[in-house]
Amino acid sequence: MKDFSREEIDFVLDTAEKLEPAARGLEKSRLLDGKLVALLFFEPSTRTRLSFETAVNRLGGKTINLGSVEASSVMKGENLADTIRVVSGYADVIVMRHPKDGAGRMASEFSSVPIINGGDGSVHHPTQTILDLYTIRRESHLEGLKIAMAGDLKYGRTVHSLCQALALYGADMTFVSPPELRMPPEIVRELKRQKIRVKETDSFEGIIGDVEVLYMTRVQRERFPDPEEYLKVADSLRIDAKLLKAAKPELKVLHPLPRVNEIEHDVDSTPHACYFEQAFYGVPTRMALLALVAGVIK
Ligand code: CP
Repeated sequence: MKDFSREEIDFVLDTAEKLEPAARGLEKSRLLDGKLVALLFFEPSTRTRLSFETAVNRLGGKTINLGSVEASSVMKGENLADTIRVVSGYADVIVMRHPKDGAGRMASEFSSVPIINGGDGSVHHPTQTILDLYTIRRESHLEGLKIAMAGDLKYGRTVHSLCQALALYGADMTFVSPPELRMPPEIVRELKRQKIRVKETDSFEGIIGDVEVLYMTRVQRERFPDPEEYLKVADSLRIDAKLLKAAKPELKVLHPLPRVNEIEHDVDSTPHACYFEQAFYGVPTRMALLALVAGVIK
């Protein structure tokens, strides 16, 4: 997200808004006619993989897919650089998810076509951030937003990318997490350097009634070096409809999904639940990103 200025983000969001009718199947688009997009997912995904695939289809393009890592030559020891060199000869754009921190940046150095980072390690998930920003703009407002981010702020890559982007809009941020899962101090320092109001706490006390967006996250079991450490914090922050009775009527609850147990199912039927719309907004925003990197919208 650090590569984007506020004006560039606004341009992507405006482009997504124009493409939303096509994302809903209400209009036809041929913007990616004749283009091939490679989907390389070295880590599990439902939303990112399928919303990119939907986005390509809605724009009239085609996809090629690595499929499961087990079925690829990664199992014979082929390294990421060689995989990227080869696939960039097949496709016009590559979308990649990878478990290693910095893999997206590294892939871009070996690719002859644009790489879109679909999430790398615990560090970045920039296309999730674009769709989060789009959701917030559509369902609430971006400028001076009062937001709480809660859950696994240490390993949750979505919140790392999101708070960097929201800083460009002067957000007021509260980070809610158990002490073991606090936002990395270098991110907090950088936000404070940018004069962003940041508060850190370990409970929802006094928070729910004060914010306009509550961004929940899952505790990232797969990133814990020690399973015992995961179990200690697995159930630490949960919300339910009763807790949300203290919320402002306009509060929107977002979650990048998948959820485990941090949002009770009784929240789904409240007017605050916004996470399924949020997942849909992955389609117009990824359509916009694909069209822009393919150079078919300028
Ligand atoms: N939000 C998100 O990245 O979901 P997936 O892991 O299912 O792609």
